Amino acid sequence: MKEKKTEEARLPRHVAVIMDGNGRWAKKRLLPRSAGHKAGVKRMLSLVDQMFRRGIKYVTLYALSAENLARPQEELNELFSLLRAYFAENVQKLKAQEIRLSVIGDRSLLPADIVQAIEAGERDTLNCGKGRLILAIAYGGRQEIVRAVNVAVAAGKQVTAEAFSALLNTAEIPDPDLMIRTGRETRISNFLLWQAAYTELYFSDKMFPEFSEKDLDAALRDYASRERRFGRVKE
Ligand code: FPP
Repeated sequence: MKEKKTEEARLPRHVAVIMDGNGRWAKKRLLPRSAGHKAGVKRMLSLVDQMFRRGIKYVTLYALSAENLARPQEELNELFSLLRAYFAENVQKLKAQEIRLSVIGDRSLLPADIVQAIEAGERDTLNCGKGRLILAIAYGGRQEIVRAVNVAVAAGKQVTAEAFSALLNTAEIPDPDLMIRTGRETRISNFLLWQAAYTELYFSDKMFPEFSEKDLDAALRDYASRERRFGRVKE
């Protein structure tokens, strides 16, 4: 049966976002990088609301890459403070909206109090079923794949692609349909490498703090116009 081309059928179920350009946004305004990150969080909060309101079920955000952890300690401390504030101020709001919060990445690289906040946030929203917000923190796609390979090797079993997917941090989360990157760069930067095999990519010239609701609409319209074939020919 041919898929009905309704708006809903064309809406991505899972959108992943690389929130790039906070630093450049701040620099252009002669502000410190920390101001860019603050503006990024503000933008992130409303973008998440906008996406769930449109009916997108899964939203994954690249909040901090494993490689970002090599940034100067001062900038890292600012990013950690923003994360602390995010968890303190938003978990109950997510719960009220029935949004489940999950975090992917290597927690052993994070300060202990942030790990505790992550665990509490995941626990408090575990039974929320309207949508799922996945934050990638201290995340790297290659590192995630290597961890999964080592689990498979330790189990002494060969894996199928499905069995391998289940060993990743994103087990039970469908692959992203659409990946948006702001900030004018056109690369994936170690984000969801395995999961993005057939993800539609969308690159925006806007710096993340200025990526507006209209820009989101443009990305969703662009996605709706794509023909997804997953390597097959169209019937
Ligand atoms: C890239 O911009 C962005 C980041 C390294 C961090 C993105 C994080 C946030 C928006 C806030 C943290 C998240 C939460 C959940 C509180 P950049 O600084 O590399 O920008 P540049 O490429 O212009 O320098």
